[in-house]
Amino acid sequence: MRTDIGQIVNLADYRPTDFVLERVDLTFELDPTNTKVEARLIFHRREGVDPSAPLVLDGDELNLSGLLFDQNEVPASQYDVTPESLTIRDLPAETPFEITVTTYINPEANTQLMGLYRTNGVYCTQCEAEGFRRITYFPDRPDVLAPYTITIIGDKAANPVMLSNGNFLGGAGYDEGRAFAAWFDPHPKPSYLFALVAGDLGVVEDTFETMSGNEVALKIYVEHGKEARAAYAMDALKRSMKWDEERFGREYDLNIFQIVAVSDFNMGAMENKGLNVFNDKYVLADPETATDQDYANIEAIIAHEYFHNWTGNRITCRDWFQLCLKEGLTVFRDHEFSADMRSRAVKRIAEVRHLKSEQFPEDAGPLAHPVRPTKYREINNFYTTTVYQKGSEVTRMISTLLGQDGFKSGMDLYFERHDGQAVTVEDYVKCFEDSAGRDLKQFSLWYSQAGTPLVTASSEYDQASGTFTLSLEQMVPATPGQPDKLPMHIPLSFSLISDNGAAATPSSVTGGEVTGEVLHLTERNQIFVFKGISSRPVLSLNRGFSAPINLQFNQSAADLAHIARHDTDLFARWQALTDLSIPNLTQAARDARDGKEITCDPALIAAILEAAGDDTLEPAFRSQVLTLPSEADIGRELGGNNDPDAIRTGRQAIISAIATAGAQTFARLFDDMQTDGAYSPDAENAGKRALRSSALAYLTYAEATPARAAGAFAAADNMTDQMSALTLLAHHFPDAPETAKALDTFLTRFDGNALVIDKWFSVQATIPGAGALDRVKALMENPRFIAGNPNRVRSLIGTFAFGNPTGFNRRDGEGYKFLAERILEIDPKNPQLAARILTSMRSWRSLEPQRADAARDALMTIERTPTLSTDVRDIVERMLK
Ligand code: ARG
Ligand code: ZN
Repeated sequence: MRTDIGQIVNLADYRPTDFVLERVDLTFELDPTNTKVEARLIFHRREGVDPSAPLVLDGDELNLSGLLFDQNEVPASQYDVTPESLTIRDLPAETPFEITVTTYINPEANTQLMGLYRTNGVYCTQCEAEGFRRITYFPDRPDVLAPYTITIIGDKAANPVMLSNGNFLGGAGYDEGRAFAAWFDPHPKPSYLFALVAGDLGVVEDTFETMSGNEVALKIYVEHGKEARAAYAMDALKRSMKWDEERFGREYDLNIFQIVAVSDFNMGAMENKGLNVFNDKYVLADPETATDQDYANIEAIIAHEYFHNWTGNRITCRDWFQLCLKEGLTVFRDHEFSADMRSRAVKRIAEVRHLKSEQFPEDAGPLAHPVRPTKYREINNFYTTTVYQKGSEVTRMISTLLGQDGFKSGMDLYFERHDGQAVTVEDYVKCFEDSAGRDLKQFSLWYSQAGTPLVTASSEYDQASGTFTLSLEQMVPATPGQPDKLPMHIPLSFSLISDNGAAATPSSVTGGEVTGEVLHLTERNQIFVFKGISSRPVLSLNRGFSAPINLQFNQSAADLAHIARHDTDLFARWQALTDLSIPNLTQAARDARDGKEITCDPALIAAILEAAGDDTLEPAFRSQVLTLPSEADIGRELGGNNDPDAIRTGRQAIISAIATAGAQTFARLFDDMQTDGAYSPDAENAGKRALRSSALAYLTYAEATPARAAGAFAAADNMTDQMSALTLLAHHFPDAPETAKALDTFLTRFDGNALVIDKWFSVQATIPGAGALDRVKALMENPRFIAGNPNRVRSLIGTFAFGNPTGFNRRDGEGYKFLAERILEIDPKNPQLAARILTSMRSWRSLEPQRADAARDALMTIERTPTLSTDVRDIVERMLK
């Protein structure tokens, strides 16, 4: 592990390598603690480069054991080596040459899960972003592309499966007790897409015929005995392959596509060429053990990694500053895929909820950075929701600006122009400019300016002249390193809704560009005038969340209710109900803090109950309507001096008011929303279950006893229903015997099933209130708590810090102290995991002073520790700045 403070890398310093890598030939002799890696690398000096320039290769914790030049030993005087780099001098000016590097590495000791490591007895790699340099000395950067040949030699009995990228060349017995397998990947790729997996695994097989008739072997490897749980992932993979052909014309390009599920993984999954490696959480599912959400996640992540084959692998990033080039675009593609597989409106609501609860706080806090950053100290800390989710929103806006067909043409040009290259965001945007003949210079500020733009709107209607006037103002807040901002190009989808609910069509619009149903806000201040509007319309603005902004538009409750009833965009209806609820929830939080009585606007109750009870609307949508903004969302709306206890008290009171007023509706929904037949994870059935569980939650508020939830828990025949009942019991009646019994039944039934036991930890980690910390501490003593397993650590510690606002933000600061201790424990073993969990404190400055002071103290304890990893040091210092 690197414990130096870490050099800052600047985008402006980019330059190509001095040497071009032509070919890579790797041989692994596997051993759990002493794996031999021989790398044969063919290079030539790039034209025009100084003939005396040395070859510099990256390393990380490496030991060099052999170095050959064209098969001859390199004299010690010709090179310098440290664990972090290998520099070789006096190399040929023109002719290609071969460098052979031999290293020995210890996969068993690799607890940071970067490079080659072991998980449950299986060899596995993770190389993005800079893990390959932990395997061998190498030009470990994404703009160095080459074809790879891989030979794996290992114990035959322990490694019946030996996999790498590309097509299988052959394999057999090697010598006494050992076997080998060889793979060749003809597609030039950067090292971060390298993968190797070896061990004793079960496999599920299928095939896919591509649009030009090639047959592709599909294989998903899982632990023995878990094969049946990979069926849904396989189905999702085939649907992804088909969708990418139909929607983007992208065909798969090898004769085999493999996925391996492992139980120790830092992130969700990894798109290695032809050999995706997955956190098993995003592969394994059956009705008994996976929730509807788990199924949806599997579908989305299988698709995401598959889609990377074109957006990421065939066209990759020139440098890591361009990460959004592959991630934002691929998230957009997986969002569109899920929207096509499920309900588009409900999918969009879920995306926007996620964006607002994860990305908006990042953009509003000390870790804010542009979608395309210009400097970093630790690249692992930039796999952020800003790069991924906001990055996706930026591509979505390009699609909104150019229209679906225009977007498709730009994408076609991108694939045509840049296939096989490592490119930049500018190259990407240029394709849309060239294909659409539109200047996207101002639009590109979305890539370089951090912070969520605030758009303030006000409107006026003049009956006499039939004129509707909309005044807009935009402001992009200051963010670290960016005090002043330029006005952005913000596409705002809109509709003017008449009294009768129909859309009014203006005879003319002046004040700026309008294309179809989109207003283009490009100035700081802009006034749009709509003529020919015969009666006062209600404006629905930023429909479908066409731009990732904060919109301040003081519409009356009556206007919002009108949108909620009539907008043809279901997303806009949900947004209107959310906007209606926010002032109630923030006021309730203030009243709770001041010890005042909490009231709820009857208009909100009426609007929510109307939508919830409307059988013409899809159940999944109605369930979203019933899910009020979270405590964290309310905190963000309050904007500062936040008291999580008061926020919770206020929110609970609003929910109780709705529950009491709607008891009859909820009782009816609870009875009506039964799914019949065997469990199916499809969107329609999942929607019914979601609405039924929302009804159950409100009924539990209204009835204030655990009986109904306990009954639902006992009756549940799938994990979705079981988890929602268990969560209600635990959160509302933590001390009730019914809860203890349910937790126990659950544990007994699923003990040994790691992914379900993660849920058992999470549900307890999120029980609100001051008692949460002691509960979490006790759970850490449970023998099932495995400190080395990232999923388990996230399910207890991560879930507590990210998902339990009242429990974690205890007024006495004990929650922060606890987290600091855990971070310091995790960091030496797995810095990436530690840094990620630490970001749960990114909004500490918006807490009330007592909590904020305690949070700062805890952060400073971390900061004072001299041996921090670069990962944690980078995060903690930025948070304290
Ligand atoms: N590229 C992966 C994805 O599909 C994420 C891998 C990130 N890994 C890391 N160690 N930072 O999103
Ligand atoms: Zn990705």
